[in-house]
Amino acid sequence: KKSYKVCTLPGDGIGPEVIAEGKKVLAAVGARAGVEFICEDALIGGAAIDACADPLPEATLAAAQAADAVLLASVGGPKWDSTDPDAPRPEQGILRIRKALGLYTNLRPVKIYDALAGASTLKPEVIKGVDMMLVRELTGGIYFGSHERFYDEQGAGANGEAGQRAVDVMEYREYEVERIARQAFEAARKRRGKVTSVDKRNVLETSRMWREIVHRVHDEEYADVELEDLLVDNTAMQLINRPADFDVVVTENMFGDILSDEAAQITGSLGMLASASLGDGVSLFEPSAGSAPDIAGQGIANPLAQIFSVAMMLTYAFDMTEEAAWIETAVEHVLNEGWRTRDIADSDTPAEKILGTADMGDKVVAALA
Ligand code: NAD
Ligand code: IPM
Ligand code: MN
Repeated sequence: KKSYKVCTLPGDGIGPEVIAEGKKVLAAVGARAGVEFICEDALIGGAAIDACADPLPEATLAAAQAADAVLLASVGGPKWDSTDPDAPRPEQGILRIRKALGLYTNLRPVKIYDALAGASTLKPEVIKGVDMMLVRELTGGIYFGSHERFYDEQGAGANGEAGQRAVDVMEYREYEVERIARQAFEAARKRRGKVTSVDKRNVLETSRMWREIVHRVHDEEYADVELEDLLVDNTAMQLINRPADFDVVVTENMFGDILSDEAAQITGSLGMLASASLGDGVSLFEPSAGSAPDIAGQGIANPLAQIFSVAMMLTYAFDMTEEAAWIETAVEHVLNEGWRTRDIADSDTPAEKILGTADMGDKVVAALA
């Protein structure tokens, strides 16, 4: 019997609640496919800070590196919000694991399910047919430049007096742009053959270099793919104006972070957006949303982003595309039957159709059988 090791990282907030449903679904797929998935939990984020004062303990990184894939939930929460700049922060755990595993490509698929057309805050005719793939550069840019705070004795204030100064550096190297551009063009070839490259060329030098390199890679290697450039502010607007026009959207790290939450809302909820973080070694799969402190511990979080992340793991880490499709079909079946978590319910949803996190996971498992 084939067997895979999955390093599972529950993290904080709703993390442990939703990852439990991801594991249930993974076990159900394994039973049906005759494949064994061995999940082992490790600590990350706030949970790891509490246990050993480090958001990414060495043991966790070692477990991730030794696994066939990593399934992460989410980290962070008010408990670890500190004004002390030297205090460890849960989010550093995620950034460090991305860097350490070399996960430079982050895929975030945004797709409308017919059954959820009413859950979106946009009009049904606007969101009809939305099916896009955000390709976010994940290990470069301003996230990984230096972040510094200065307390200047003089010069920083409005009149040259003492004051604070903060600096975040945004830097990209040619090879970083080249490789993410290739990922976007490759993805487009398997989809509808169009890439929108998003930048802020009218202001940023990193963006001017980005655009040049994306075009060079396109012209030399992917001339068959349609390439469009869009400034990031315009993109934010076009995403809600004509979302169905987008196929693959490629952009740098921070623009991708912001645009992906916006794109998720097109589907009705951030709780639907999965992601795959890929590099040259072990890959990591996680919901795009955070630890949702406002609803943590209540058993009402939407586990579908985590469950879709499991499907992406099957596709990208284990080459089990057929089994990944089982999950998609099962979720679609559950949604078509009218089952909802609170975040994707609308005013027409009867109260008895609104499920908690674990019940939604059980419905998907039942539909898989
Ligand atoms: P968030 O993504 O946690 O939540 C934003 C909103 O979406 C909240 O109203 C939340 O209730 C809702 N939401 C998110 N996931 C949901 C789900 N599965 N079901 C239903 N509703 C859901 O963003 P935030 O509140 O700005 O950040 C909270 C913490 O999460 C912060 O510490 C942040 O740094 C962290 N964060 C972590 C990750 C990650 O671990 N990958 C991602 C984003 C934010
Ligand atoms: C995401 C999150 C992370 C990011 C945070 C938690 C560091 O918002 O995965 O989108 O900004 O990349
Ligand atoms: Mn984000």
